[in-house]
This record gives sequence, C-alpha cells and structure tokens, in this order.
Amino acid sequence: MSTHAPLAIIILAAGKGTRMKSDLPKVMHPIAGRPMIQWLIGTAEQLNPDKIIVVTAPGMDSVAAAAAPHETVIQLQQNGTGDAVRPAMAALKGFNGKILILLGDEPFVPLDAMKKMIAWDGLSVMAVRPVAYEGLGRMITHDDGTLERIVEERDATPAEKRIDLCNAGNFCVPAQHLEKWLARITNDNAQKEFYLTDLPRIAEKDGFLTMVVEADVARMRWGVNTRSELAEREREAQIMLREGAMAGGATLLDPDTTYFSFDTVLGRDVTIGPNVFFGPGVSVGNNTQVHAFCHLEGVRIDDNVQVGPFARLRPGTHLEEGAKIGNFVETKNAHFGKGAKANHLSYVGDAQVGAHSNIGAGTITCNYDGFDKHKTILGTGVFIGSNSTLVAPLSIDDGAYIAAGSVITENIPADALAVARNRPIIRDGWAAQYRNDKKNKKESA
Ligand code: UD1
Ligand code: MG
Repeated sequence: MSTHAPLAIIILAAGKGTRMKSDLPKVMHPIAGRPMIQWLIGTAEQLNPDKIIVVTAPGMDSVAAAAAPHETVIQLQQNGTGDAVRPAMAALKGFNGKILILLGDEPFVPLDAMKKMIAWDGLSVMAVRPVAYEGLGRMITHDDGTLERIVEERDATPAEKRIDLCNAGNFCVPAQHLEKWLARITNDNAQKEFYLTDLPRIAEKDGFLTMVVEADVARMRWGVNTRSELAEREREAQIMLREGAMAGGATLLDPDTTYFSFDTVLGRDVTIGPNVFFGPGVSVGNNTQVHAFCHLEGVRIDDNVQVGPFARLRPGTHLEEGAKIGNFVETKNAHFGKGAKANHLSYVGDAQVGAHSNIGAGTITCNYDGFDKHKTILGTGVFIGSNSTLVAPLSIDDGAYIAAGSVITENIPADALAVARNRPIIRDGWAAQYRNDKKNKKESA
C-alpha cells in the first residue's frame, strides 16, 4: 500500500445528457447555484492531484470555462465512457502513478471512498447500493469480494438485474496499464458503445483483480441522468448548506424553506425568516436579520442590518452597518451607507445613498432612459419624501430635503428643500354641493 504515488484525475463530461432533455450540457446544470462539474472538481481538488483533466465534446465551451484552470481535452464523438478516456491519454504521456477516473454527472462522490481507491496498489472500482438502481451497471463479484465483471442494465439477465450492488462509475487505475487496457475495449454490447466497465474483465486476463470500494450513499440514487435526480442532488446540497449555516451560528426559523447558494456566507447571530432565497454571491454580517420572503443575489450586507420581509436585493447591492430595507423594496447596484433606510415600496437602482439618509415609501430612481443607465447620488442625511421620482443622472447633496410627491430632474444643493409638484386647487364647499346635486338627480329620476 502506498498513498504517495503521483495522482491524475480524469473527469468524463462529454456525454450528451440526452435524458435531461436540455440544451445545456448535463454537467453544467447548477446545484445550489454552481454547475455540477464544479462541485465534483472541488472535491477532486481535495485529493491534491498532480493534474485534473476534463473530457468534453466539441462545442462545449461552457464546460471548458467551468473547468478552468484545469485542462480540458475533446472526445470527438460520444462513443461511450471507455472511448471518452482515450483523448485524455495524450495529456498523460509519461505520467507514472495512479489515474482516478470520475464521471462528471455525479457531483457528490464521497472523499473517503476515493481515498481508499487511491491507497490500493492495483485496480479499484467504486460501488454503491443506492435506494433505486434502475439504469446502473451491476457488480458481479467473486467469492472473495473482488470484482468479476460489471454488467450494464441493458445487457443484464433478469437475475443480474436483481443485484443491488451497483457501479458508481469511478475507477482507479495504475497509469502504466491504462492505455493498453483501453485499447482492448470493444463495443460488442446492446448500445454499441465502448464501455469503461469492461476494464476489470480485461485487467483480470492480465492477472489483475479489481478491488471493490463501497461508498455509503444510503439516502440517494446515484448519478444525475434526469431532472428528477438533479432535484434530489439539490435537496441534498440544501440540507448540507443549511446545516453549515446553523453550525456557523445562524438561526434559520424554517430551515426547509431557506435556499442557499454554494457560496453564501452568514455571520454570527444572523436570523433568517421563512422562505428566503440566496442566489450566488451573498455575504451577510453579524446580528443581521433577513425577514420572511426575501430574494437576494450578489449582495453584501454588513452587521446589524434589517432586510424585508418581501425585499428583493439584486446584484451590486451593499448595505452598510445599521441600514434598513423594508417590504416591497427592490435594490440593484445600490450602496446604502450606515443607517440609511428605504422602508417601504421603492426601487433604488444604480444609486448611492449616503449614511442616515431616508428614502420614503414609493420612491423610484429612474435609472434607465431606454438606452443607458444613470446614477443617483444622495449625500448623507438626505430626506426623500414619499412617492418621489428621482430622474437620473442626479445628485442630491447632504442634508437636502425632497418634498413628498416630487419629480426631481436636476441636482439639489446641500440642506435645500426641493418641492416639485403642483399646488392643490381648493374650492370651498364644492364636495358638499356635488353630493347634493347627485342626490337630487337620483330622487327626481
Ligand atoms: C455509467 C456506467 C454505469 C454506472 C453509471 C453510474 C458505463 C458504460 N456505464 O452509466 O455502469 O452504473 O454510469 O452513474 O460506464 N461520457 C462521456 N463520453 C461518452 C459517454 C459518456 O464523456 O461517450 C460521460 C458523460 O458526460 C457522463 C459520464 O461519462 O458524465 C457517464 O455517462 P452516462 O451516459 O451518464 O453513463 P450511465 O448510463 O449513467
Ligand atoms: Mg450517468
């Protein structure tokens, strides 16, 4: 047993993913806001390999971008998992160590099982006993538990189909044998594909037994081939992220309805109400409360901030300490200084709101003229009266006061009052006269 041999990891990701019925490559489907392949690469990196090589198909540039800075190679035609490994061999010329082959469509491969495979000197394969095993290869073992062969479901007899020990799809192969064993794989099977699962049978002819490493996946199916399996991985990821958030000192009032992204960061004593969605790129400081029904993405929130209920914070929002965003407020690319507030029913976009400024209910920043976006800049301690329309580009300087219902189209100096609305026309007794006339008309009809 040696654990120090050089290690290369090949991830197969060129498949069409037909069963997903999608224009997006299968491995690019996100789980908790992160493409499936990046979850797997993240785990693979923890094994400190010398190289990670991702196999993609022509035109799958998004997969190459998601795999970067790791190398990608191209399998020209999708002729099966055995064929998919071949283009990676060119990138491994002269490599002498272990080669771990992973399937890009299973993002959550247990690290401990992979470590056991690598620690074994010969050929090893990962096995699972999932809750349902339809579509998976079945493991036919020798009496001593080593692998005799893998049979794909389509090629299996009814008795073989009843075997619940399934092929997880991951192999660890000594580098010096891989190329010659791959060359001996044929496509003599129901799908006319080159199956990587033929490897153990070929190796045994050369005198190599395959060790079976069983990974514990009790609650799951295995491999993401369908949208249903994708949703299952999403649930698993959410459970993991919620547990992580609570372990880190956040209170989730209803954990089952809090949705996190892979990179959500919460401080201590953060409280999250029910039905809150965190898209990618959100960080929340200490002692902050995000009340029920909020949607956040690309947002930085500092300490002691109040958000929601029913707030939508879009990318580029930064709320400094003590800021308050209330119900039915939408923000985008908006910086709120310390203690700044927008408590009700507003849209604040492309804006800078100085410390302790207050934005009244129904305020709209008109940031878009149909062609370009423009900025609204509010100084410190600015007061915006309710139902104001701020037509950008615009700046309202420190301490200025905007009267309710104003449409502001020009810059306002510090400490000024701006009133931009019509004076009311008041007619004494008009309403009483009107009611009287109406009443008399009805009675005489
Ligand atoms: C495969 C295994 C099956 C195992 C299951 C576990 C084979 C023949 N079958 O079946 O025994 O139980 O995974 O999830 O290996 N790919 C390529 N090029 C190809 C074909 C596939 O890169 O030409 C990639 C796919 O992108 C995918 C992975 O290989 O990430 C597995 O392919 P998939 O078609 O999903 O194989 P399964 O039918 O799930
Ligand atoms: Mg699969």
